[in-house]
This record gives sequence, structure tokens and C-alpha cells, in this order.
Amino acid sequence: MKTLILYESLHHGNTKKLVDAIAEEYPVEIQDARTFTGDLSDYDAIGFASGVAFWKIYNEIFDIAMDKMPFEKDIFFICTAGIPDRDYAAEIRTLAQQRNNRVHGAYCCRGFDTFGPLKLIGGINKGCPTESEIRGAVDYYRLVLIECGIDPDTMQPALPETQDN
Ligand SMILES: Cc1cc2nc3c(=O)[nH]c(=O)nc-3n(C[C@H](O)[C@H](O)[C@H](O)COP(=O)(O)O)c2cc1C
Repeated sequence: MKTLILYESLHHGNTKKLVDAIAEEYPVEIQDARTFTGDLSDYDAIGFASGVAFWKIYNEIFDIAMDKMPFEKDIFFICTAGIPDRDYAAEIRTLAQQRNNRVHGAYCCRGFDTFGPLKLIGGINKGCPTESEIRGAVDYYRLVLIECGIDPDTMQPALPETQDN
């Protein structure tokens, strides 16, 4: 399965930490949305990974998702936020579904945040994403693979379960 994770990680590289951890463990291509010139339909699975600004995922990744969302692919979402209390992927998920993509939920966790006045108090979510939050992103991608019918240990198509009776 050919996977691309397109990311935009502008504030502290929080989101990039999740993406890098996935790429260390699994064969995925990672590309910065700000320099990406490829074609999303060249991939079987596409992950959109972003930080959040003003209650939305970042502009570049949002624009690419809205302008270039392919059809009938496997799509997943990763985000980090100062306050990860809502479904930041909702808008692009709707479009992905309208285009008959298979959508595999989303993973969102805390990211270190020193935006605006938060800087005066040293920021919030220091040390985030933590090791276990980063691990959570890798485990999430593992589940995406399983949902795509790929055995994450061999990266081969999973064998159908045999019936004993
Ligand atoms: C300009 C700006 C606006 C932000 N707005 C929000 C926001 O509306 N909601 C939120 O939860 N976090 C907000 N954040 C925090 C970031 O989403 C968070 O730190 C995230 O982990 C940054 O990811 P990155 O380091 O990958 O860019 C904002 C950060 C910046 C710099």
C-alpha cells in the first residue's frame, strides 16, 4: 500500500513529531504541504496532518484537501492542538466521504502551545506531544493499516481468517 502523509506543522513541530514517528515504523512517504507538488491520486492512502490555528486546521493543508481530494482512496487525519476538544477534521472528512473515499477516523492530541498571551505564562501543554501521545499516533496508523486490509507486521495483504468448523 502506497501511503502519503501530507503535513503542515508550523508552530513547534508538534504534528511533525507524530508524522516522523509513524514514518520511522512504517513505510510511508511524508511531504510538507507547503512544498508539495505531487498528485494525491498517485497514492492508495493519504493522511492529512496539521496543527490548529483559530479553531481550524492550517490553511495550506485545508486548501489542498479541498482542492485536490481524490476519489475512492483511504483517508485519515492527524492533528495536534492546544485544546484538542473537537473534531477539527470534520470539514475535510465530509468532502472525503462525498468523494467515496474510505475514511479512517482521526487522531488528535495535545501540542505545546505558546500562541499569543500563552507565551507570557510559558505556554500550555509543555512536553506535548508526550511519548505516549506520539505512540498513540503510531498505534492509530497501525489500525488504519488493519482497516485497509494490510497486516501491519508484514505489510502484506492480511490473510482471511480460516474457519475451523
Ligand atoms: C496562531 C496560532 C493559533 C492557534 N489557535 C489554536 C486554536 O484555535 N485552538 C487550539 O486548540 N490550538 C491553537 N493553537 C495551538 C496549536 O494548534 C498547537 O500548538 C499545535 O500543536 C501546533 O502544531 P504544530 O507545532 O505542528 O504547528 C494555535 C497556535 C497558533 C500559533
